[in-house]
Amino acid sequence: MSEATHPANVVIVDHPLVQHKLSRLRDAATSTAGFRRLAREISLLLAYEATRDLKLEDVEIETPLERITGKHLSGKKLCFVSILRAGNGILDGMLDLVPSARVGHIGLFRDPATLRPVEYYCKLPDDIEARDCIVVDPMLATGHSAVAAIDSLKRAGAGTIIFVCLLAAPEGVACLAAAHPDVKIITCAVDRELDDHGYIRPGLGDAGDRLFGTK
Ligand code: URA
Repeated sequence: MSEATHPANVVIVDHPLVQHKLSRLRDAATSTAGFRRLAREISLLLAYEATRDLKLEDVEIETPLERITGKHLSGKKLCFVSILRAGNGILDGMLDLVPSARVGHIGLFRDPATLRPVEYYCKLPDDIEARDCIVVDPMLATGHSAVAAIDSLKRAGAGTIIFVCLLAAPEGVACLAAAHPDVKIITCAVDRELDDHGYIRPGLGDAGDRLFGTK
């Protein structure tokens, strides 16, 4: 899929620092520690993009020299929602930027018969209806987990939902955009394709294994 044909709700963060760090993430020679650090750094930069539409309101401030009207955040509070387990690898960078955000977790496994995601764990803040959500998972591959997680959040009454990943496949973008056209997708790149084993090509391999040093 060329950039020109991405659905309108896809934002590719083409900042030079993000693209530089993404290339280092893709590199098979990058160590587990290096991969984890880069994922944290990139996710902070993605969180910057994901939070650009947060509402502001006026606030009176006394500077050391005079009184001014400044701005502070208003409106709905944030909840980051990590899709287990790889989502946790891009959670910390987001929390570096928004330390007061609440965090939800959704765990899904693939039913071997239907190949569809089945939720085995869902823990969200009690006041999820009062919060906008940023769902995080490093890889948007088939899109099925993202759709299932967002289905769950909508059932729970969450406000605006944004999906953030490091890399997306065109198939995942199409699946998520079809099921949830209201959800903005923020990513560093949309790669060429999904292969027969469900890996994004050229991709970066298995994000969970690279983050946690498993195989
Ligand atoms: N999940 C991964 O970790 N990598 C892929 O390429 C696809 C899904």
